[in-house]
Amino acid sequence: MMEKLKTTQPLIEISNVTKTFKRGKQETTVLKGLDLKIYEGEFIMIMGKSGSGKTTLMNIIGFLDRITAGTYHFRGEDVSSLNENKKSDYRNAFFGFVFQQFFLIDSLNVQQNVELPMVYKGIHQAKVKKEKAQRYLELVGIGEKMKDKTTELSGGQQQRVAIARALVNDPLLIMADEPTGALDSETGKVIMNTLKKLNEEGKTIVMVTHDRDLTTYASRVIYMKDGCFEEEVMSQ
Ligand SMILES: Nc1ncnc2c1ncn2[C@@H]1O[C@H](COP(=O)(O)OP(=O)(O)OP(=O)(O)O)[C@@H](O)[C@H]1O
Ligand SMILES: [Mg+2]
Repeated sequence: MMEKLKTTQPLIEISNVTKTFKRGKQETTVLKGLDLKIYEGEFIMIMGKSGSGKTTLMNIIGFLDRITAGTYHFRGEDVSSLNENKKSDYRNAFFGFVFQQFFLIDSLNVQQNVELPMVYKGIHQAKVKKEKAQRYLELVGIGEKMKDKTTELSGGQQQRVAIARALVNDPLLIMADEPTGALDSETGKVIMNTLKKLNEEGKTIVMVTHDRDLTTYASRVIYMKDGCFEEEVMSQ
């Protein structure tokens, strides 16, 4: 019975979620009563104009920020008001993050960058870390770059290091906020094919993009406008 529940229960369910930022006396509501269910194995793309709330939503889903009102259930558990420690435990255990600007640490080589999340998790055996770093760098097609400086890699190679880093702790979900935004379209395709392969292997992916052409990779596309979801209006 539990098994059956598992397959139908959403990984993520947010209901009537609102996010309000306060600056002094000024309050801005940037997410306005959102409902969303995300199921295991989906490849979701979020589109919408700058300022529509895409990153804010990603941050809430990935436990980087908290909701102002509404509820958030993660694997059936109400996580709306977890404390900071619990939030970071969940974040580290279940999410891998990929950003437009890669956020690699230049003073560390490729291998060390990929090993970092394992260090945060408390894995310190050099052999274990190295084997995992190697495995995930090979998975994203740059196994031979282990000892390279990150500054000597191309943008696409740097993003693949970031993807390997997001994968080393075997997250359930990959959260990618404009992962191809800083790349030319050819290199963007390499990254998209990497994400597609990961999705086919079972990873759930939530990605923000401005590039309508990339929606062909998605199993579902969500459009945001002014902090709300909107239906796609077919223009042709
Ligand atoms: N920490 C914050 N404090 C106050 N306002 C914020 C904060 N973060 C975001 N906002 C505001 O919330 C709104 C949504 O921002 P968000 O970053 O989610 O947009 P976005 O859809 O990701 O845009 P872009 O496509 O430019 O990345 C914007 O008006 C932004 O100014
Ligand atoms: Mg954004």
